[in-house]
Amino acid sequence: MQKIIVSPSILSADFANLERDIKSVEKAGADWIHVDVMDGHFVPNITIGVPVVKSIRKVTSVPLDVHLMIDNPEKYIEDFANAGADIITFHYEAVSDVDKIIKLIKSFGKKAGISIKPNTSVEVLYPYLNDLDLILVMTVEPGFGGQKFISYCAEKIIPLRKIAKKELIIQVDGGINSQTARICTQYGANSLVAGSYIYKSTDLREAISSLR
Ligand code: DX5
Ligand code: ZN
Repeated sequence: MQKIIVSPSILSADFANLERDIKSVEKAGADWIHVDVMDGHFVPNITIGVPVVKSIRKVTSVPLDVHLMIDNPEKYIEDFANAGADIITFHYEAVSDVDKIIKLIKSFGKKAGISIKPNTSVEVLYPYLNDLDLILVMTVEPGFGGQKFISYCAEKIIPLRKIAKKELIIQVDGGINSQTARICTQYGANSLVAGSYIYKSTDLREAISSLR
């Protein structure tokens, strides 16, 4: 059976105790740590930026999966790469030259990911499939944790998995719990981001393993 990469989103962690909340999911079996960067323009919320990624990097060796929900991502990719991001995912809707951004991320030796919002069709990504390491199919409108999973978004995984190279990581983010995770992995997703489901649970290990 294929390995499912679980990436807990620290958006649902306690920011005053970030080190504790990262170490606790690490101990409970997290494969990656998902870091949601929001700029108040691309999405109607502001979260964290480069200095926080730099500090997190010092307290964990788990790969940092950085999800940029920002306009002009090209301006900040070098900074996030130097801060210690391992996977850098930007939004299709935020850029005009997709190839350029993929090349930029790879020039720093990082994995390149692209994400689509609920109303963006998956076909727009087909020209880039061979260059990408990861596609993040948003299963809620980006901006906030704790929203309800949108099923029609997850259905985009089906055609994508059919045509993608087998190494392509297909990730989902938004409203993921043990039930919705099962739908997504059946469709062909192999990376699951979950914030509230993991951090609200009283047994982190059980929550993470219930997603797999
Ligand atoms: C939303 C973020 C998500 C968020 C998911 O825009 O990209 O990563 O933390 O939160 P849950 O798992 O609570 O839906
Ligand atoms: Zn995210």
